Amino acid sequence: MAVDVLLGLQWGDEGKGKIVDHLSDQYDAICRFQGGPNAGHTIIIGNDKHVLHTIPSGVFRAGIKNIVGNGVVIDPITFEREINGLLKSGLDCRSNLYISKKAHLILPTHRYLDAASEAQKGDAKIGSTLRGIGPTYMDKTGRNGLRIGDLLTGDFRDKYQNLKKKHLNLAEIYPKIDFDLEGEEDKWFKAVETLKQLQIIDGEYFINDLITNGKKVLAEGAQGSMLDITYGTYPFVTSSNTITAGVCTGLGIPPQAIRRVIGITKAYCTRVGSGPFPTELFGKTGNAIMKEGKEYGATTGRERRCGWIDLPQLKYVIMLNGVTELVITKLDVLTILETFNAGTAYQFANGNISNRLPFDLIDEIKKVDYQSFNSWNQPIENAKNYDELPTEALNYLDFLERELNTPIKMVSVGPERNQTIIR
Ligand code: GDP
Ligand code: IMO
Ligand code: MG
Repeated sequence: MAVDVLLGLQWGDEGKGKIVDHLSDQYDAICRFQGGPNAGHTIIIGNDKHVLHTIPSGVFRAGIKNIVGNGVVIDPITFEREINGLLKSGLDCRSNLYISKKAHLILPTHRYLDAASEAQKGDAKIGSTLRGIGPTYMDKTGRNGLRIGDLLTGDFRDKYQNLKKKHLNLAEIYPKIDFDLEGEEDKWFKAVETLKQLQIIDGEYFINDLITNGKKVLAEGAQGSMLDITYGTYPFVTSSNTITAGVCTGLGIPPQAIRRVIGITKAYCTRVGSGPFPTELFGKTGNAIMKEGKEYGATTGRERRCGWIDLPQLKYVIMLNGVTELVITKLDVLTILETFNAGTAYQFANGNISNRLPFDLIDEIKKVDYQSFNSWNQPIENAKNYDELPTEALNYLDFLERELNTPIKMVSVGPERNQTIIR
């Protein structure tokens, strides 16, 4: 069979966790292919809320394999905490959880370096989640990193000490920060023992065997396309390829194996951390969206910046990802507004108007052109079918579909698993 991909089309937090959970009963395996505990994927089932960071969002359905792919970076401490959190809520995910040997390990000193680097940057900081993501991927590409497979070798402690020494030398160039390294190392080595009890696999063989045997696989993106290391708003990005291309490198599958590419966008837009955001709202309306949408980071609790949906931005990432269908989330949040906008074009500093993203979104975009829409004056969170949505909502969805030239297959009208309309 084939691999379907589901990924975020904005700056993250589009509702990937909710939609993957919803779709997961149609699949045999759900695989994370990049990122790590910087992700926070929220799943609400009835009155229970779960936030997953590294574990794929298929764990709430029985009999589905959940695979952490080779392109992911893993912090044993947060990973163990996640497993224990699920155990506490009565779910033992371990028998269906698989970890790839070539996934890289986040060491305590990676987290130290992340924090120290951000401290040095001051106002120019990325707004990293401080989970050690950047330094870990730096070690991967710098060919210094440690991988899950290394945990199974006899000289792992030596390898660890060597890398830690390099990190401590590197730390000398940064300002000193508060960090209980010994305490964190203690926790880390204990968590490593838990990790070693899990099913550690050759992810690339495992997933290709599933495909050959006719199984259905869903690749679950983390972050969003605008945080992609190459195509995002660099340097205010994460350190992995978050776009469809990352699925091939992150899981070890050929491009021909990819079938549907499901792109998710909110009905508006948010961003957490620093960096350009052309359609950002600074006043009352942005705040109202933040409150109604509960726009606070699932990993760090930080307030998310809110703004209007941005069509040139979405067209760009639909092109990069080869999106075959769209999911629109958080449509219900727009109910609180009388009118709302969609960004349709950028006015550049040189006077040109364009719907293409410039190299530098901060310096080159002077103004955004908007189209305005009337909102609806009835709640929509209980709508079960497309035709139950008010005319104004349908008009907006039609507009998006037409402008983005991609069919909308699902609309989400609330955080709960069942508040999902399939078209
Ligand atoms: P992810 O990182 O893409 O999985 O998204 P997050 O979980 O970080 O953030 C999405 C937030 O929106 C979570 O709190 C979800 O429970 C919530 N959510 C998802 N879909 C909807 C929706 O359609 N309406 C509302 N109101 N909330 C939603
Ligand atoms: P999910 O999967 C939103 C942002 C951080 C920061 C930048 C770099 O939940 O959508 P990093 O820790 O990766 O070095 O941070 O990327 N960021 C996210 N923003 N959702 C995420 O994941 C994010 N993961 C990282 O806020 O601006
Ligand atoms: Mg999130």
